[in-house]
Amino acid sequence: MDASILNYKVNDNVGDFLSKEKKLYIAGKWVDPDSGKSFDVEDPATGKKIASCSAGNSKDIDLAVKAARKAFDSGVWTDMSNSEKGKIIWKIGDLIDKHNEELAQLESLDNGKPVAVAGAADVPLSSDIFRYMAGWATKIEGNTIPYSCLYTPGAKYHSYTLREPVGVCGQIIPWNFPLLMAAWKIAPALTAGCTIVLKPAEQTPLSALRLTEIIHDAGILPEGVLNVVTGFGEDAGAPLAEHPMVDKVAFTGSTEVGKIITKAASGNLKKVSLELGGKSPTIIFPDADIDAAIAGAASAIFFNHGQCCCAGSRLFAHEKVFDKVSEGIAKIAENIKVGPGMEASTEMGPLVSDEQYQKVAGYIESGKTEGGEVIAGGNYDNSSGGHFVHPTVFAKTNADMTLVKEEIFGPVVCAQPFSDESLEKIANEANNTNFGLAASVWTKDISVAHKMAAKIRAGTVWVNCHNIFDASLPFGGYKESGWGREMGHEVLKNYTEVKAVTVNL
Ligand code: NAI
Ligand code: MG
Repeated sequence: MDASILNYKVNDNVGDFLSKEKKLYIAGKWVDPDSGKSFDVEDPATGKKIASCSAGNSKDIDLAVKAARKAFDSGVWTDMSNSEKGKIIWKIGDLIDKHNEELAQLESLDNGKPVAVAGAADVPLSSDIFRYMAGWATKIEGNTIPYSCLYTPGAKYHSYTLREPVGVCGQIIPWNFPLLMAAWKIAPALTAGCTIVLKPAEQTPLSALRLTEIIHDAGILPEGVLNVVTGFGEDAGAPLAEHPMVDKVAFTGSTEVGKIITKAASGNLKKVSLELGGKSPTIIFPDADIDAAIAGAASAIFFNHGQCCCAGSRLFAHEKVFDKVSEGIAKIAENIKVGPGMEASTEMGPLVSDEQYQKVAGYIESGKTEGGEVIAGGNYDNSSGGHFVHPTVFAKTNADMTLVKEEIFGPVVCAQPFSDESLEKIANEANNTNFGLAASVWTKDISVAHKMAAKIRAGTVWVNCHNIFDASLPFGGYKESGWGREMGHEVLKNYTEVKAVTVNL
């Protein structure tokens, strides 16, 4: 690897992986793309190319889907004993942990996030979902159901349900947590007995490809069970969402593309699960532990540079504590060290791409034009080639401002006070968005906490915390934040069909 490109000392495997040709993974083999073309992958801290990946198209997707179909129909995975499946899925978790350092470095180089965060959060959360799911492989059960025989009195029937794999799954993932999103998709699909065609984000294909290589080298999955096609959304994602041999599509990304995918999936009425955007409120009551709330609300928006679907991007603080809270968050924002993710002292890296940088910078400018008061940050800088946006706090925002209404997906929080209104009114304000992914409520009053949790229209409510994830907890959205849930045993509903069997005794 050319050191001048990377600037950092990296794990040997990272250097080898970056410099070699990266192909598509279809039917257990690394194959060239039909187009013969590749696309560049850049380090968002420098804007320099660090690798290139194969540009998959509809022909590659067709081959991958047929491989997944053949593997599914043959029963090579589905019919394997559940205990064996569970062992393999667990093993993938162990392999991820074994390769923590290189996967964390790849994630940092590809996405821009601090390498220490990737090593402490992204990689272990990825291994953990495999281990959590491995346990479920032997526990996917149906029910026996008592039958009333209303119109055939005296007859005896025995009815039960089977929970079966949905089939071939097309999985399309984004760039904000590249490895973790791959893990959230692959682990439950394998657990349910499905086969997979995964399409990583074009901005960040590296960790999913390296994970696939690690799994391939371990020789633990039958061929065709996992296929990976890199490429652009329109070229590789769209044909996967449309393909008539795909039974289910799982997507994480923008609400806009989520809607396109539901239309594409309608040709053969694929099952669809969607994990989309958000505009999550952080609501701070005056009785809260204010120092904890300030630190928590800052982390809610600044973690992963605000590139989180559940980022706490709308801050509501009671007027009695509003100044203290907004100034406290502004102080944290000003002290966050922004720099390349691979530098040990960096607390916030660059945004993932120039496109995302331009989008976030545009929202910051629109916020200023619309009368928002910048009390921290508000500046951005790509003069080094990297896509750096400083953590930004807007005070004096209101529900009519573009930056309050739309998902920014960057380190920008919009703060507004509330007065002694009813909980109903506060909840209505928090719910005044097309999204419904998450919220956090900060209070010491247990009754307020539970009442607010019930009133918030979102798939996750955190009390006195934010961004707390666990493989066991279902995650997903109300309203335009999506369909279905990821993680927990809830996710298995996305990957299974229920069959009712009735036997005339
Ligand atoms: P996107 O929704 O365009 O991309 C996500 C994935 O969908 C990528 O793999 C992409 O290649 C694929 N894709 C794009 N167009 C497609 C199509 N027509 N058919 C099938 N697949 C397609 O998101 P993008 O453009 O990277 O980011 C735009 C905005 O989306 C962000 O600024 C953010 O607001 C939101 N977003 C939300 C995420 C979440 O976790 N919910 C993650 C990433 C982005
Ligand atoms: Mg897009």
